[in-house]
Amino acid sequence: MENVATIAAVRERLQTARSAGRTVGFVPTMGNLHAGHLALVDALRPQCGLLVASIFVNPLQFGPNEDLDAYPRTLAEDEAALSERGVDLLFAPSVEEVYPDGTTLQTRVSVPGLGDILCGASRPGHFDGVATVVTKLFQIVTPDFAAFGRKDFQQLTLIRRMVRDLSMAVTIVDVPTSRASDGLALSSRNGYLTSDERARAPALYRSIEKAAARIESGDAAFDDITAEAMASLEQAGFRPDYFTIRNRDTLAEPGPRDRELVILAAAWMGRTRLIDNRTVDRPLQGAP
Ligand code: PAJ
Repeated sequence: MENVATIAAVRERLQTARSAGRTVGFVPTMGNLHAGHLALVDALRPQCGLLVASIFVNPLQFGPNEDLDAYPRTLAEDEAALSERGVDLLFAPSVEEVYPDGTTLQTRVSVPGLGDILCGASRPGHFDGVATVVTKLFQIVTPDFAAFGRKDFQQLTLIRRMVRDLSMAVTIVDVPTSRASDGLALSSRNGYLTSDERARAPALYRSIEKAAARIESGDAAFDDITAEAMASLEQAGFRPDYFTIRNRDTLAEPGPRDRELVILAAAWMGRTRLIDNRTVDRPLQGAP
């Protein structure tokens, strides 16, 4: 695996791959890689002649009181893992390389509807930061395919919307959430949890599973399902931010006819904000 830090070096490498007719796959990350990130690599490897990964802790998507400085940086281990998994090119730029004029950009990419709700409501500006950096990375790497995890369901939905709205020539591939054996979704932020908090954290996953089971059994009392989940999260020691049942494609409140849904939740465990989600199909009326 080749490791480059400049946009010019990526462009040069991509030009060679393109002229050789190779299909380009791309896995953008912020590093501190775990099995969830590597599943994205595995999803693209078979269909791509050149597989590119990026590691960049993007300051633009962190709020002023968020964990930008504390965010774990483990480049040597990440490099080894990506190389072993068959990544051809790693782009790990500095902040100056990506934002040579600083992070107060004049041009930003914004997806207002999807970017302002749920996690966007709690983290103002976060999704503008994501959309902007992903657009920049797509401009640099020009991938045919790019992989995103369902773990960050709102991010995935927003990227799909952005790609459609801006006619970007990339196909988005989504990958199921990788979980620990007790159900907790893998996340770089799990490392912030104390051992007591880590033991309680799977309650987030369990509350979503329980809500999904009620919906699958035909229960349409969404307010009650949500209230029960919020109470169970509080009981487990979480401070819930939101727990909500939405239309899977638009993330809008579901209408009575919407059957393809997603349950999304965000909750604080101590000083760590965890998110999780699960898709669920509402049964046809009259079905058991
Ligand atoms: P990061 O949190 O490092 O995640 C990189 C990719 O890995 C995202 O597509 C995310 O959804 C996926 N991922 C994380 N945990 C996962 C899990 N347990 N199972 C499956 N996929 C998982 O998301 C970002 O970085 C940034 O916002 C980024 C898109 C790189 C833009 O800066």
